[in-house]
Amino acid sequence: MLRVGIAGLGFMGMIHYLSYQKVRGAKVAAICEQQRKRLTGDWRDIKGNFGPAGRQMDLSEVATYDDLDAMLDDPAIDLIDITLPPALHADIACRALRKGKHVFCEKPMALKLSDCRRMVAAAQKAKRQLLVGHVLPLLPEYAWARKVIDAGRYGKLLGGSFRRVISDPAWLRNYWKADVVGGPMLDLHIHDAHLIRLLFGMPTHVSTNGRTRGKLAEYWTTQFRFKKHLAVTATSGTINQQGRPFDHGFEIHLEKATLLFQFAVIGDEAKYLCPPTILDGKGKAKLAKMPDGDPMMNAFEAELKAVALSITTGNQNNVLGGDLARDAIAICQAQTKSLLQGKTIALK
Ligand SMILES: NC(=O)c1ccc[n+]([C@@H]2O[C@H](COP(=O)([O-])OP(=O)(O)OC[C@H]3O[C@@H](n4cnc5c(N)ncnc54)[C@H](O)[C@@H]3O)[C@@H](O)[C@H]2O)c1
Repeated sequence: MLRVGIAGLGFMGMIHYLSYQKVRGAKVAAICEQQRKRLTGDWRDIKGNFGPAGRQMDLSEVATYDDLDAMLDDPAIDLIDITLPPALHADIACRALRKGKHVFCEKPMALKLSDCRRMVAAAQKAKRQLLVGHVLPLLPEYAWARKVIDAGRYGKLLGGSFRRVISDPAWLRNYWKADVVGGPMLDLHIHDAHLIRLLFGMPTHVSTNGRTRGKLAEYWTTQFRFKKHLAVTATSGTINQQGRPFDHGFEIHLEKATLLFQFAVIGDEAKYLCPPTILDGKGKAKLAKMPDGDPMMNAFEAELKAVALSITTGNQNNVLGGDLARDAIAICQAQTKSLLQGKTIALK
């Protein structure tokens, strides 16, 4: 049995806790949270932009800590699952790895590339796994696209455009603080930066245009250049349109087909603007069948099953691996630099 200690019981900590209940072979054995009432199981004030609302939980079989180091010292814990604010990820991950724990850390891996490198090095030195919660490739529409691409039936990947835009999250206090959350580049677009790295490899150059807020990117479009001739772009950021809180999608070009998908929450209604669709070379538009159930909760369940499998078999999951997550941060940093300096930036 993989015994998990969740560090930080906020919105994501709760989503992970609920998802672990569906993972055979893993059990949440401990929780660490600085808000004492959450350690009594009172999660009624937790809510996010998806998943169930928080409720009163029975934590009688879970060890509770209000001090992170005390949980890291618990010999009964195999895996530390970090759902803390991003600024805390690197230090806690490195401390956990040094204490012989495996680490699963929510995205973004860290706010600085140097911290990501430190985390990867700590995992190598400790001979423990470091996995990062890049859930996007496991979302049903994105998992479908990856499956179609990997099957090879429609030929090679030629490029794609990716979109992720939210209304300004005025309710998130630290969103626009570079040293706490990092704005939409590291909180939001990091998902597509990781996906682009996964699908196309590491870009050699990025060129970004758009708007800034202080020293942070606010809304932008990036062109990604690769060694091969691929046409890849992404548009992301926040706009002041509270009536459309969330919007994401893609258009992926293959030699013999194009994959389309566009989803948005408009008003209170979540809807496909374009359901996952293949446009094939014969002029047909085929709609893909998506699994039943809540797509977000399904994706987190799949993610945590993959984490448990990766650690219990010792066969490290590449999609969730620290190397790709670190590269995603490097890509985002280069995009911000390109936007601020108004020039194309080479990635080393
Ligand atoms: N994968 C996704 O789709 C997704 C969605 C939302 C958030 N996230 C990520 O999850 C992480 C957490 O985000 P969230 O929305 O759950 O934040 P949150 O603020 O709701 O939760 C963080 C929790 O950590 C606790 N905490 C902070 N410092 C602590 C400390 N020193 N000791 C113990 N507890 C401490 C806070 O009290 C809070 O309860 C972030 O990295 C965020 O980017 C990922």
